[in-house]
Amino acid sequence: MADEPRWTVITGASSGIGAELARVFAARGYALVLAARRHERLEALGEEIQKHHGVPVEVMALDLEDRGAPQDLAEMLRDQGIRAHTLVNNAGFGLRGDFATLPFERQMAMIDLNVSAVTALCRLLLPGMLERGRGGILNVASTSAFQAGPHMAVYYATKAYVLSLSEALYEEAKARGVTVTALCPGSTESEFSATADVEYSRALRPGIMSAAEVARIGVDGYEAGRAIVIPGRTNWIGALGAKFLPRAIVRKIAGSLQRGDVTKPAKEANEGA
Ligand SMILES: NC(=O)c1ccc[n+]([C@@H]2O[C@H](COP(=O)([O-])OP(=O)(O)OC[C@H]3O[C@@H](n4cnc5c(N)ncnc54)[C@H](OP(=O)(O)O)[C@@H]3O)[C@@H](O)[C@H]2O)c1
Repeated sequence: MADEPRWTVITGASSGIGAELARVFAARGYALVLAARRHERLEALGEEIQKHHGVPVEVMALDLEDRGAPQDLAEMLRDQGIRAHTLVNNAGFGLRGDFATLPFERQMAMIDLNVSAVTALCRLLLPGMLERGRGGILNVASTSAFQAGPHMAVYYATKAYVLSLSEALYEEAKARGVTVTALCPGSTESEFSATADVEYSRALRPGIMSAAEVARIGVDGYEAGRAIVIPGRTNWIGALGAKFLPRAIVRKIAGSLQRGDVTKPAKEANEGA
């Protein structure tokens, strides 16, 4: 039991923060299960990590917008005799635009990925951790979790859910030797901005951090057993402001940041449909 690898399941490991989290966990001796849709990217990362860190790595290509995918992942782990020590719910995406005009299907898919898959994986893997009295969960939320986000309404709401769920699970699990951490990054260099169509938004400028920096701070906080980790001073100040300023002011500021360059409309793909 003492020698059992600390298997760490990371969703969204094919790019950005997830890929960097994989590198940090591997450097600290954790074994990895890498999950995302782009199989070749996962294979390449797995090879790189095995070469540099010599830890066991498994990859699983799956679409976590599918309701059955978390079950498939849990079954794959069971079939391979892998007991998850750590779960990292990192896969997620955002969409900029007004709620009434963003495509209905993409908004519902965002909830499937950012909320349903996160909840399902916590529910499937936490009981084993509690039974063994070790390990934990690192859920990637966002500074968006601390206030409402006009022009990115569903994304902000999904991250508020992730933060709330994580804090509750932290309290339920901590007495049993299992920790749950919500990592709340602000603007971070990754593929997120292109997917979300926020690359020219002022929201992504102040205090922007590298994915590697965010990942290192996230794993430090997780290993220290912290409930909430907000990387970077600018993000800390923003979260503090959201806590102490009147909500009406906070949501207006968030909305004006997300509106971005009003002369440039949101991607055509985000309109109508
Ligand atoms: N970048 C930021 O400014 C920022 C700020 C705060 C919070 N975050 C959060 O950080 C997390 C990671 O985002 P990132 O910035 O690293 O963006 P990213 O580079 O776009 O990475 C997103 C990851 O999620 C995976 N993913 C997307 N849809 C998926 C699906 N349907 N099924 C399985 N995997 C899926 C992607 O892999 P595939 O495409 O291969 O499936 C990719 O590995 C997200 O939860 C995001 O909300 C980001």
